[in-house]
Amino acid sequence: MNHLQATLEQYPRENLTRTPTPLDMLPKLGDQLGLNLYLKRDDLTDLTLGGDKPRKLEYEIAQARLAGADTLVTCGSMQSNHARLTTAAARKVGMECVVVLSRDQWAKIQGNLLSVYLMGAQVEIVDVADHWDLEESVLTVCKQLRAAGKRPHYIPISGTTPHSCLGYIRGTLETLSQLPQRGQELDAFYVPCGTGGIFTATLLTLREMGVNCPVIGISVNRDEATCRDNLETWWGALCNLLDCDLSRDRGEYEIHANFIGREYGDPTEACLDAIIKLGSAEGILLDPVYSGKVMSGLLAHHAAGRWPAGSTIVMLHSGGVPALFAYHDVIEAHLKKRGIVNQTFPLE
Ligand SMILES: Cc1ncc(COP(=O)(O)O)c(C=O)c1O
Repeated sequence: MNHLQATLEQYPRENLTRTPTPLDMLPKLGDQLGLNLYLKRDDLTDLTLGGDKPRKLEYEIAQARLAGADTLVTCGSMQSNHARLTTAAARKVGMECVVVLSRDQWAKIQGNLLSVYLMGAQVEIVDVADHWDLEESVLTVCKQLRAAGKRPHYIPISGTTPHSCLGYIRGTLETLSQLPQRGQELDAFYVPCGTGGIFTATLLTLREMGVNCPVIGISVNRDEATCRDNLETWWGALCNLLDCDLSRDRGEYEIHANFIGREYGDPTEACLDAIIKLGSAEGILLDPVYSGKVMSGLLAHHAAGRWPAGSTIVMLHSGGVPALFAYHDVIEAHLKKRGIVNQTFPLE
């Protein structure tokens, strides 16, 4: 066991999901592209419809327990995966849950929002200009809960905290252990970049384990400069928790902010085409907010000649698939545009 693994073991972790998740080779899409393509299936974590959050929450809820909390409080967009999985985790560990959601156009009682109601979270819907800026509203809710005698634990947007990032240290160690040469064969590792928690933990783990391939973050909401600032924050916090050298060489990494579209959650044509491409090649669904965007970035880089035949690439599938159902109108229109849905249905 190396230093990173040994230090990680010292942190308490609530067991929320069965791991390891599979690392699937994608033979058909890989053949089409001439790549050795692997998909880390964190969409298959088995807490209520899966995704990245169970790994993060395993460490954060352990902290909540240490603090004696009885209520988890968090926030997100109307189709927040994090709201779904925090609610599910709260139920699993016997806590209450309050989710503060910012009103947006994806407010159908469908997908993630539907699941949040089904699991009985207290839902507070607020109007803010930017859903990544909900902290004030959540802190007010925490104050009200305290006044009512509850012991709330605030989990920031996307579940990203120094401790929760440990979940992706553990997750990335798991991925490396599943690769034939423990990652030495990799030419690139693609991940989503929202708050940057997953990205930073992936980068740090690869470097600590001596894997030097480029780590490529596809931003889903922020410009490159903000993503880089976030990397500084989480890098410092993680090095501190894990007793790693803050100034260690980070090697090659990239953050691409040109796949976002108009705004966070915009189901771009490239994203929807990427979902269709993987779905029809491998029977695996991506989501319109995170994993579809990551795949759209990978495919665009491939189309631009970035990855020569035989390159070995891992992409993290961080989940989010329930949002497909809240986006069904726009996806239906896209399927029609591509001639996939027969517009004269039903057939005579
Ligand atoms: C499915 C999915 N992938 C990725 C992310 C972003 O992860 P991070 O904020 O650690 O960059 C989120 C955030 O909510 C998510 O729901």
